[in-house]
Amino acid sequence: MTSRTLVTYPEPPLPSAVGLGTAGLIYGCDYNPEQWGPATWSEDVALMREAGINLVAINIFGWSHVEPRDGEFFFDDLDTVIELLQSNGIGVNLGTGTSSPPPWLSTRHPEILPQVADGTTRWPGGRQAWCPSSPVFRDRALRLVEATVQRYGSHPAVKLWHVSNELGCHNALCYCDVSAAAFRRWLQARYATIEGLNEAWGTAFWSQRYSDWDEILPPRATLSFLNPTQNIDFSRFSSDELLSYYQAEAAVLREHSTIPVTTNFMVTAHIRTQDYWQWAPKMDLIANDHYLDNRLDVPHRELSFSADATRGLASGQPWLLMEHSTSAVNWQPLNRAKTPGEMMRNSLTHVARGADGVCFFQWRASVQGTEKYHSAVLPHAGVDSRVWRESVELGALMGRLGEVAGSTVHADVAIVFSWEAWWAADFEAHPSSELRYLDQVQQLYEALWSMGVTADIVKPGAALDGYRLVVVPSLYLVSDEDAAVITDFVAGGGHAVISFFSGIVDADDRVRAGGYPGAFREVLGVRSEEFYPLGTDETVSLSDGSTGSLWSELLHLTGAEAWVTYADGPLAGVPAITRNAHGRGVGWYLATAVDPAALIGLLATITAEAGVVPIGTVAPGAEVVRRRSQERDYIFVLNHTDQPIHHEFRGFDLVTQESVDGFASVAPGGVHIIRQDRKTS
Ligand code: GLA
Repeated sequence: MTSRTLVTYPEPPLPSAVGLGTAGLIYGCDYNPEQWGPATWSEDVALMREAGINLVAINIFGWSHVEPRDGEFFFDDLDTVIELLQSNGIGVNLGTGTSSPPPWLSTRHPEILPQVADGTTRWPGGRQAWCPSSPVFRDRALRLVEATVQRYGSHPAVKLWHVSNELGCHNALCYCDVSAAAFRRWLQARYATIEGLNEAWGTAFWSQRYSDWDEILPPRATLSFLNPTQNIDFSRFSSDELLSYYQAEAAVLREHSTIPVTTNFMVTAHIRTQDYWQWAPKMDLIANDHYLDNRLDVPHRELSFSADATRGLASGQPWLLMEHSTSAVNWQPLNRAKTPGEMMRNSLTHVARGADGVCFFQWRASVQGTEKYHSAVLPHAGVDSRVWRESVELGALMGRLGEVAGSTVHADVAIVFSWEAWWAADFEAHPSSELRYLDQVQQLYEALWSMGVTADIVKPGAALDGYRLVVVPSLYLVSDEDAAVITDFVAGGGHAVISFFSGIVDADDRVRAGGYPGAFREVLGVRSEEFYPLGTDETVSLSDGSTGSLWSELLHLTGAEAWVTYADGPLAGVPAITRNAHGRGVGWYLATAVDPAALIGLLATITAEAGVVPIGTVAPGAEVVRRRSQERDYIFVLNHTDQPIHHEFRGFDLVTQESVDGFASVAPGGVHIIRQDRKTS
């Protein structure tokens, strides 16, 4: 076993990470001391120091400990733990503790329990068993928040308020009668009149016309397909409802405390219930949780996407990775341990893409409960373990990277991403159930990733000034105003790549008649009359020798040139990829899912024409990202392969602490972070 040494903390002046008043980068973890007796607490905190931990999230699931009986508060243990952390120089990310109600609450008030679409109740015994619209739950939760903030609202150890936990992870959609009433109120605010709702929902179809608000229900389980606009509005309502819950907790906190307030987002491939574009402006800082999903082909590329999307939510400013894992999780069908160095690469990818701190769930591996096989900084095996040694190594490196805090990532390319389009595009009764919105976003993202092109993830309607290229994957639902931003960007000299099933419906899920792709016909100079989706494993040959899959359509040129056509099948000779000069810019349309190699080739042409400048030459399997401060660049080169990867950057490597002068080799699975002085290099 390698010897363990106390980490020395970097001295100020260092930039302050995400405005928490702490110097340098944050390195943290969730800590659940209530799962352990006080006997372990001192050892825990001593080991935290050894690992270089400087921010600890506590009281995330603390409710039944802090309020063991209705209205009886017990803060002694929290006092002790907070003081212990403070006396060891460790900041506290203090949970409001409201994530999971204690048994006394759901026993006395079973009306707080959520119901799923078939009307059945979801019972206590797991976590987050509460209805987001329940006034009783909100009342009791806010009482706890008030008691907590009154006690710790100006405690010097507390650096951040952590509202609830992963709001909506399990209870985002509740279909109970209380939720139904709240949904009706939300609809009245949106539509004002029942006629307005009937018009928006297209209730002339299938005899669904409403004559009174009281007739409206959440989209409960039906015999047939559901009204799609009812479903989209229920998704919007449900996201807003939890956001309003967050705001209610935040208001109580802000009344008694000036410490920043946030909650942990879940920008991930498998949870899509919150429209975080609506949430982000309400946060004092943006925090995200991300876990590698080993069900995906290349999990670390989805990690990069999540990090870029989180940076987008933070409007380009630094953000905080609130949770990830040191090794395996416990909730996938097969929970893979990370390979040596993988946790380091995962963590540094988040930092490369704008995180000013990385934290883990959790500090000490549980020995009881559902998560006992989830990895932790301190595993069941104890300190004589690879995971512990790598955690200490990462902590020391995070200390050395303090100067990176506050620097930002700049991109020439923006990818438009929309939770609303995700909800709408993936709904039932569409041309192909094989078309999944996120797959389309990620295919274009991954092609750019492989080329070493950094992309910002932006919301529909975001200002596009400063970008050279905007990529619009399958933006099925888009408002006229948001579509116009893209058209205007191209007219003004920008370049756009728009892929199939974009611009089809308006915000009410109403098809734009006159030909597809509706809102983007003009900027693309095309008009499509019919979709020809392709079956699983079915491909179509394209005139440049590549192949298309998933989608094709009967497309006509109304100004664009055919770049590539279908070479076989029912659409032989019809354009599959088009290029249209529009105003001073160019709009490209991809009417089929181009195979990955051809997509990279096409994007190489498009990015070159748009003037997108790569950071450097990228070897296959390498990830290259740049953060930039006023005086310096930090170039992160991450080697995801089992071979050495060479690069030609000059500067000083903060990982190896060596100068590099134009030729260096990153070890298999390793990372270089090259600091460059912008004036001299
Ligand atoms: C989420 C939760 C944590 C924990 C982890 C396990 O991120 O916030 O409490 O359950 O998942 O991966």
